[in-house]
Amino acid sequence: MDVTQTAAVAPATPVEERRPLVEMRDIRVSFGGVHAVDGVSVDLYPGEVVGLVGGNGAGKSTLIRTLSGARPADSGQILVNGEPVTIHNPRDARAYGIETIYQTLALADNLDAAANLFLGRELRTRTGALDDVAMEAATRGVISRLNPRFKNFKVPVKSLSGGQRQSVAIARAVHFDARILIMDEPTAALGPAETAQVRDLITQLKREGLGIFLISHDIHDVFDLADRISVMLQGKLVGTVDKDAVTKDEVLGMIIMGKLPGALTSQEEEQLH
Ligand SMILES: Nc1ncnc2c1ncn2[C@@H]1O[C@H](COP(=O)(O)OP(=O)(O)O)[C@@H](O)[C@H]1O
Ligand SMILES: [Mg+2]
Repeated sequence: MDVTQTAAVAPATPVEERRPLVEMRDIRVSFGGVHAVDGVSVDLYPGEVVGLVGGNGAGKSTLIRTLSGARPADSGQILVNGEPVTIHNPRDARAYGIETIYQTLALADNLDAAANLFLGRELRTRTGALDDVAMEAATRGVISRLNPRFKNFKVPVKSLSGGQRQSVAIARAVHFDARILIMDEPTAALGPAETAQVRDLITQLKREGLGIFLISHDIHDVFDLADRISVMLQGKLVGTVDKDAVTKDEVLGMIIMGKLPGALTSQEEEQLH
């Protein structure tokens, strides 16, 4: 047995560190008669990426919006670090260290990275003037740590690539102590090179111990990055699996047929190839 390999896959983490960052229990959200989220439970540990996958309309965004504070659940419970919490709006979520990276990124296009990082939370000198030096230094520190290739600190973010813009948005969250990141289809609008940049970012965030919910309708987007994969279909959780224990085809079976690996008939397996 290759001991090094085993250690890398299953670190001997003390039990108290294995407390989930987030536990969502029996979450329900309806729109009129539509059960968009129908009794779903998922959790997230520090340093972990949970891929939340399922076809369009499966309920992924609605589920995760109850955590980001965009729309409260009709029922169910959310725990952060083991404590039950009430999240009515994005500000509540942020107070629990939960940040959402929206596809639109919510950046101010005409401002540079530092101005975006500190937008609405500017650093000031003792005389009350904007402390541009401190803000730029902090910005360089956090962005360089997350994305060493990032060099364009002095230009408006509108001239940055999509991957670099994500770096700025994520740096903002990390600088203000986010521990839990929600990324809903983060690479949907990006080309291959930029997607690679976002993947590197996510890997670095994991290393720093953040927990990440990575949402996608496409299993190929998240398979390599995810530690565990939770699959939704028609508002329900099909199941949560360890990435290392499943094949992409088995996850596809969960997404399309709503069946756990092992429950597929050989005919159904054929259909997935
Ligand atoms: N604001 C809304 N009003 C009414 N129905 C909605 C709303 N948001 C989502 N839905 C419905 O809830 C279901 C789940 O949608 P969504 O959570 O966006 O799925 P996913 O993110 O998996 O594609 C869909 O049937 C969708 O039409
Ligand atoms: Mg969605």
